[in-house]
Amino acid sequence: MGPDLEALRARINQALDDRLPTDSHIAQPLIDAMRHSVLGGGKRLRPMLVCAACDTVGGDIEHAMPAACAIEFIHAYSLIHDDLPAMDDDDIRHGLPSAHIAFGEANAILAGDSLHSIAFQTIAASNHEDAETKLKKIALLAEAAGWAGMAGGQCLDIAAEGKSLSLSELQVLHSAKTGALIRVAVQIGALSPTSTPVSEEQYLLLTEFGDRLGLAFQVMDDVLDVTQTTQVLGKPAGSDEAMDKNTFPRLMGIDQAKEMANSLIEEARLLLARTRLQGNLLEQLAMLVVQRDR
Ligand code: IPE
Ligand code: IPE
Ligand code: MG
Ligand code: MG
Ligand code: MG
Repeated sequence: MGPDLEALRARINQALDDRLPTDSHIAQPLIDAMRHSVLGGGKRLRPMLVCAACDTVGGDIEHAMPAACAIEFIHAYSLIHDDLPAMDDDDIRHGLPSAHIAFGEANAILAGDSLHSIAFQTIAASNHEDAETKLKKIALLAEAAGWAGMAGGQCLDIAAEGKSLSLSELQVLHSAKTGALIRVAVQIGALSPTSTPVSEEQYLLLTEFGDRLGLAFQVMDDVLDVTQTTQVLGKPAGSDEAMDKNTFPRLMGIDQAKEMANSLIEEARLLLARTRLQGNLLEQLAMLVVQRDR
């Protein structure tokens, strides 16, 4: 990862820490679980995408930070719930005990609930943009996180355990459960305040870019689940097979799944080039999606 992205990640880590509560008379274990899950690790891909998209449209990254944190809070909540016994039943996340192992199932569920709330609170509290822009971002994020996006995709993922989905069905599943939040990260970043807002066409191209990136990301997540160790991943390797999940490697083999992720990233880069914007940070993040080892 280049120095620009390293610095951006550090800045995001600080911004997340600053926005999380530390003490509560009524709910200390809940707050501890929230901090454990958000600050315990994570690549910060989604908030980096928000910031990179903001930079691409000529905005000030600092102004994108509330929405960047919001999306990471939603993501952290989705991982807490994803690891619960009722879902993937995974005991390790970011090389640490999953939230329900460290704090109990009830506190883990509540920490997820609270991260979901704090996400929208964070955008609402931003000083950097007008009410209309904030409302747009809140609406987009809500749609991407809910029944038509991440939560809907998780529902389908669970329902499809033990069944065999076709390629197009699996694409629909992945586009919702993982694609929606990644796509919306790019959209929200592109809505950052700037002196020359992007055209409708550029916004649509960036949306399509996010779409390809999101699908490629989950294809690679599936690949890494079978090719990497628990040590490197920081989460249990082989979890998908243990839960009889539908994945791209299962459907088409590891090599073809990797090829598919690479060609999606190639498509994404072409879409980005067509915007004629300065998309260097977004391009670096696109490469990371397929070049990562965890
Ligand atoms: C893992 O996402 C869950 C998926 C949606 C595939 P990440 O791999 O982005 O998780 P962290 O935050 O970097 O651990
Ligand atoms: C989870 O997908 C996607 C979410 C919405 C959290 P996975 O179940 O494959 O994510 P990991 O592999 O546990 O991180
Ligand atoms: Mg899952
Ligand atoms: Mg999982
Ligand atoms: Mg996975």
